[in-house]
Amino acid sequence: AWLVGSFLKPLKLNGTPDPAKKIIDAGPTDRFVPASVTAFPQGRFYLACLADGGFLALSRRCTHLGCTVPWDADKGQFACPCHASVFDIRGDVIRSPAPRALDRFVVFIENNRVKVETGKPIRRREFKAEQAVYPKKRT
Ligand code: FES
Repeated sequence: AWLVGSFLKPLKLNGTPDPAKKIIDAGPTDRFVPASVTAFPQGRFYLACLADGGFLALSRRCTHLGCTVPWDADKGQFACPCHASVFDIRGDVIRSPAPRALDRFVVFIENNRVKVETGKPIRRREFKAEQAVYPKKRT
């Protein structure tokens, strides 16, 4: 049993990148227009560029029962096709039954490029200003 168990255990190596922490390079910061949402299906997230230029990576899973929530650019909101929950560009609930804001992912800016850690979604009740990430002002 020990032999079988040791074969089945995932191999843990020191210093290798954590596959759960997959980083997606979304592109240069100036590619995104304020008040826009860009889908990254391979990372299962949306990158929201807020009206003030802040970035927020949102999970596309509805916080009600997990349906994929599409972005409606005309209405400027996410509308879940399953039970009609609606979320704003920051992921906040506009209409229930969704119990809380869309989950988010860690965003960071490196060399003027927006990068998103897609490993583990971060649960939150609502949007807070510190969740948005801003590019450094060029001098
Ligand atoms: Fe989105 Fe129910 S799964 S409203």
